[in-house]
Amino acid sequence: PRLLLLNGPNLNLLGTREPEVYGSATLQDVEDLARTTAESLGLELRAVQSNSEGALVDAVQAAREDCDGVVVNAGAYTHTSIALRDAFASVALPFVEVHVSNVHAREEFRHHSYLAALASAVIVGAGVQGYVFAVQRLASVLAEADT
Ligand code: DQA
Repeated sequence: PRLLLLNGPNLNLLGTREPEVYGSATLQDVEDLARTTAESLGLELRAVQSNSEGALVDAVQAAREDCDGVVVNAGAYTHTSIALRDAFASVALPFVEVHVSNVHAREEFRHHSYLAALASAVIVGAGVQGYVFAVQRLASVLAEADT
């Protein structure tokens, strides 16, 4: 089985971007962490990051061909993108939504997610460790679906 790790806009700047909010780990650290976790659970992981909404939609559509689940941090598109939500609804792959920061402790506009209602789980405020939890959870969901 294979997971897609999908990171959205500005997450390429992890580590340097508002470190007091997002910490010091880089996107490369996050991808390594998620891949190590996935591999320890017998899963492969493909990592994609894009700042553009359409590219994220394309990646979700492509995942239908060769992935079994998705870990997604859609960044600000979480709060704006009906297109990305529709993409997840269309491919019907299980996915776990991650936010590094605790979006509920921040501005009102970060409290709503267009993705959350479709997500298998949502992990917020656990820092980059949230990606580890998300991969672990998806592994369990996929194992259950298999039995
Ligand atoms: C984020 C939270 C979003 O509100 C924000 O736009 C991001 C990062 C997080 O991981 O905490 O870009 O998704």
